[in-house]
Amino acid sequence: MQGIDIVEQNIADLSPELLNTLLKDRTTGKNIRWATDNYEQYGEAYRADQEIRPELIIGEHTDIVQPRVTKAKEKQMQRTRDRAEVFTPSWICNEQNNLIDEAWFGRKTVFNISEKGKWRTYKKKIEFPEGKTWKQYVDEKRLEISCGEAPYLVSRYDTVSGKTIAIEKRIGLLDRKLRIINENVQEEEEWYIWCKRAFQSIYGYEYQGDNILLARENLLCTFIDNMVFKFAHEPLLKQLNEIARIISWNIWQMDGLTGNVPYSEKEIENEQITIFDFLSIDGEKEKEKQPIPCKIFDWRSNCSLEFNSMIKEA
Ligand SMILES: C[S@@+](CC[C@H](N)C(=O)[O-])C[C@H]1O[C@@H](n2cnc3c(N)ncnc32)[C@H](O)[C@@H]1O
Repeated sequence: MQGIDIVEQNIADLSPELLNTLLKDRTTGKNIRWATDNYEQYGEAYRADQEIRPELIIGEHTDIVQPRVTKAKEKQMQRTRDRAEVFTPSWICNEQNNLIDEAWFGRKTVFNISEKGKWRTYKKKIEFPEGKTWKQYVDEKRLEISCGEAPYLVSRYDTVSGKTIAIEKRIGLLDRKLRIINENVQEEEEWYIWCKRAFQSIYGYEYQGDNILLARENLLCTFIDNMVFKFAHEPLLKQLNEIARIISWNIWQMDGLTGNVPYSEKEIENEQITIFDFLSIDGEKEKEKQPIPCKIFDWRSNCSLEFNSMIKEA
């Protein structure tokens, strides 16, 4: 299980801005919130309704946010009870992702063949069906609902066994897009342009703040892994910040039952009440207490939109 946790202190040492971006809630402009009572023993600032601030997860606290598989068994059980947190093993994620690709490619076993809880990866360059291109595949939008640590999107490690997975064998929806780019683009500048498009097409939402951070870190690390794999060097800090910005929009904190930012109504309730509030017309105050609906970003049309309104339209 060694090496699967990403140490937040290392991110902050590389760039405080990068850690800030990974903690950003793009709808509210604030930070994501804990939205779990698992950390309350560390103090007031770790209450479920509080924002996750960098100083709470670095320094002496740099180890507190851990992937589920390395959390204590008791904590795991509590999280299953509280939020139905049970993660899917990679072989099941693979089989389901295979079904999505089977529908898109119009043929079975495109990336690998799955058998008895394992899979064998095809090494040959992926062929595209007539009338479809690798660029279209990269741009296809994909969403993992209630994404946890995002095992359907990226598979640095098996979220159930904790075993690391070599880059050539990864099965996530983003992993697959990056494989396609690696196979079709040789020039680094163009490769990076297409990588950004792949990240822009991958979405996931989740309630608990620690899972959001872990999912975001997993996606960012996947970008680094691919650059090292393809070009034998690490990305520039500017590139890491750009990719992190995309991730901070596309992996967002939301209560999937309402489409709202968890605990976003709280801050309005806590606002200091002035004499004018008492004078306001009935009903107006009620409106102020409404929670904030989540916004997501459509990178192809370059605009943000409310998740709920998009679902209604669809
Ligand atoms: C069964 S786990 C699945 C995680 C991941 N997709 C997987 O397959 O491994 C369910 C996840 O849903 C999240 N969750 C629970 N209630 C939620 C809600 N109302 N809105 C969004 N996510 C929620 C939990 O925090 C947990 O991470």
